[in-house]
Amino acid sequence: MKKTKKTVFRCDGCGHEEPRWLGRCPQCGEWNTLKESAVTMPVSVSLAGPGAKGNSLPLNAIRVGEGERMPTGIGEFDRVLGGGIMKKSCVLVGGEPGIGKSTLLLQAAASCATKGRILYVSGEESAEQIRLRADRLGLVGERIELFCSGDLVAIQRIVETVKPVLIIVDSVQTLHSAEIGPVPGTVNQMKYGAHELISWVKERDSALILVAHVTKDGVIAGPKTLEHMVDTVLYFEQNESEHRFLRAAKNRFGSVDELGIFIMGDQGLVPQEDSAALFLVHREGDLPPGVATAAVLEGSRVLLLEIQALTVPAKGTTSRVSSERIEASRVARIAATLEKHLNLRLSDQDIYINVSGGVRVSEVGVDLAIAAAIHSARSGVALSSRCAFAGELSLAGEVRPVRKLALRMKTAETLGFDRFVGPVAGKGESLVRPAGSAAVGNLAAAVASMLS
Ligand code: TYD
Ligand code: MG
Repeated sequence: MKKTKKTVFRCDGCGHEEPRWLGRCPQCGEWNTLKESAVTMPVSVSLAGPGAKGNSLPLNAIRVGEGERMPTGIGEFDRVLGGGIMKKSCVLVGGEPGIGKSTLLLQAAASCATKGRILYVSGEESAEQIRLRADRLGLVGERIELFCSGDLVAIQRIVETVKPVLIIVDSVQTLHSAEIGPVPGTVNQMKYGAHELISWVKERDSALILVAHVTKDGVIAGPKTLEHMVDTVLYFEQNESEHRFLRAAKNRFGSVDELGIFIMGDQGLVPQEDSAALFLVHREGDLPPGVATAAVLEGSRVLLLEIQALTVPAKGTTSRVSSERIEASRVARIAATLEKHLNLRLSDQDIYINVSGGVRVSEVGVDLAIAAAIHSARSGVALSSRCAFAGELSLAGEVRPVRKLALRMKTAETLGFDRFVGPVAGKGESLVRPAGSAAVGNLAAAVASMLS
């Protein structure tokens, strides 16, 4: 890799670097700790392959190899990755401590479909601890090499010896190199370590997974600063129940819409592939007033979710919306649309919205179910537990077409829903409507249909 000499002023206390001398370190606040030093920093991550070095090439002349993806063998992980880990790529897996990152990656290391060796580097746990966990999970680690250290130079030495096809670093926060200063755990240490390892895999037929701890309030800003350096950023999160969700925040090799769902059990993380009805509270007859079922598209599959609404007279002079799982501004817009087009008074009400299972929903097709739930909460009229909704709402009160309407209907029908209230089919979508389904063009028609 090309390197260049330059001079920086580095803080003795925290390792922070500044291009010029300052009396006080802006990172740790200590006085007179910045010292001039010459460092050797890489210029940029060198990309592998033709056209990467020295000269340019016509785009059409560049050949792309086959079989560049390594499936992890964990369906829900592969779904979010877009089919597996791309060779020469780097994936950052972030999440709160205790969420299950180490468990997921140890499981993935054991099941990854590759003949090459996998290097699992842990700067957090001892080899015995990891072996115990593997035994408890019943994992066979024949191809897994374990190295417990955060010392970059030592890791690089091992990497050169083992020549792994996949390197897992748990966690990136433990990477440190004497070249960057005496203090481990600084942002610069982490960035430098990540950079060196990314360069290594880009130059070979290998891939890198970096584990990063993040906290809810974003106290550790570190992992954010790595996002631009890596190809894929996945975040692992948990709701109030037992489910754990894996989402992509960035993916150069796949969609960012897919959701991976797991449950942490005694045997580690259990992928929840059959997820359509996972968040349904199975009820008979009518739902309680204020509840409507939405057929929501999450990536390539449909989830049926309960949207729960509560309206109470506003406590303050202005009404407010409280909604954590669905953006409050969207709920406010739908409430205003209901008020305007159905004469349903909501502007003097506080509105609370919840989603069953604590699933975060941002898909537009959930609009109609939110409207139905708010309408039911305000009017006190209950909806059937066998009726599902999908549709986007315009400000004019129209119910607009949504993607994959046929799949939503089919999934609901399979789960025993015998009514489906939704829009007409979108352009180019051929649709065989199940018996009991209603195509509605506007809010008034939707309400008439759901109450009939
Ligand atoms: P871990 O993978 O260590 O989390 P992270 O690396 O994100 O910090 O998982 C930690 C939690 O998961 C811990 O509280 C124990 C629990 N757990 C189980 O419930 N079952 C299991 O089989 C394993 C391995 C862990
Ligand atoms: Mg861990």
